[in-house]
Amino acid sequence: MNKKRNKRKKRNERNKPIKDMSTVKIALITGANRLLDHSAKNTNEQFKIVLACRNKTRAIDAQNALLKEFTGGLVEIVLVDVSSVKSVFECCKEVKKRFNRIDLIFCNAGILPCTHVDWSVVAKQLVFSPIALMSRTDCIVQPVGKTTAEGLGETFACNVFGHYVMIRELENLLIKTKNSRIIWTSSCTATKENFNLEDYQAIKENAPYESSKRMTDLIAIGLNSRLNKHDIYSFATHPGIAATNIVRDHLGWVMGYGMLIGLFAARTFLGMRNQTVTNWNGSYSNYYVATQPIDLLNNAAIKKFGSYCNRFGEVYVDTDDIEDYNEVETEALFNKLNKLLDEFRVKYNIKS
Ligand SMILES: NC(=O)c1ccc[n+]([C@@H]2O[C@H](COP(=O)([O-])OP(=O)(O)OC[C@H]3O[C@@H](n4cnc5c(N)ncnc54)[C@H](OP(=O)(O)O)[C@@H]3O)[C@@H](O)[C@H]2O)c1
Repeated sequence: MNKKRNKRKKRNERNKPIKDMSTVKIALITGANRLLDHSAKNTNEQFKIVLACRNKTRAIDAQNALLKEFTGGLVEIVLVDVSSVKSVFECCKEVKKRFNRIDLIFCNAGILPCTHVDWSVVAKQLVFSPIALMSRTDCIVQPVGKTTAEGLGETFACNVFGHYVMIRELENLLIKTKNSRIIWTSSCTATKENFNLEDYQAIKENAPYESSKRMTDLIAIGLNSRLNKHDIYSFATHPGIAATNIVRDHLGWVMGYGMLIGLFAARTFLGMRNQTVTNWNGSYSNYYVATQPIDLLNNAAIKKFGSYCNRFGEVYVDTDDIEDYNEVETEALFNKLNKLLDEFRVKYNIKS
């Protein structure tokens, strides 16, 4: 990893100054750094990264870390708590003030809330189904009925609705660029059985995380029928399984390292290709969708682009089916989201 980073660093030192700012692609990201690496290697395609983060100190740390690694990179910060509709409106207002166009929006921020880890499930799966243990979230017991201050299902608000509001508010900036892209980080754990349109905010009984990721898939694909005519393309991706804070936060320090070793072992010894293990590998599918020619990506219309690794840790992208994608269900979901958005626009006096 250090060798790889040093190699990247050397390349980045050779990064040429950008002559024409109008050709720089603007990417609003709720978390990622691969695009700076790409900019460092490709003088013909440069990105300005706008980190959309909820915590100013962490955002500045991330910005400094990126600028240290990618000398001459273009990195800005905009503050947003995606689980708060009010904050998303404010963030979009700020983005509109700073930019007159956007090329990419990465809907990447996400939470997997947890009341406790069910160690009996861990033990059972470890013995009878290690593959399930390493690829699913069964052992994470999620809170039921938790809502935000604005009254939305917590996971729904953060993983889905905040991003949906952001897209709708910034559509006019996406329209200004050719082949602009919206990239939704979903999950390989997104399952249709955990999504119930009647309880789409997953406040009652559904597993809120899996429900939110199923919705992410439906929205990511469904937006295309409305936005493609404006040259805007929307994609679902997933990072495989990586040892990031989303699960590590619930496991504690020791088990967090245990997880890392488990993922690595599952990839090396069981050949589980979804065990991407690191953030860098996990972000590959997002990077791929951001940088590949649009025609190549559109061949995979109702698919999700996933990050995968071989036993030796070499990362690649593969496409996965979106289980039973259903246009009628997706349309009904959009109706609900749009109605909710209208209510919030009235509440916060936002013009559509
Ligand atoms: N890791 C995996 O195995 C895996 C698998 C499938 C899907 N995913 C998805 O990948 C995406 C990235 O997750 P990750 O694994 O990289 O986890 P992570 O390390 O926990 O990163 C999540 C990011 O989301 C941000 N975030 C959370 N709530 C937010 C809010 N209300 N407003 C603004 N930002 C917020 C976090 O910011 P803070 O720094 O402020 O906390 C953090 O930067 C998520 O959508 C996740 O569901 C991950």
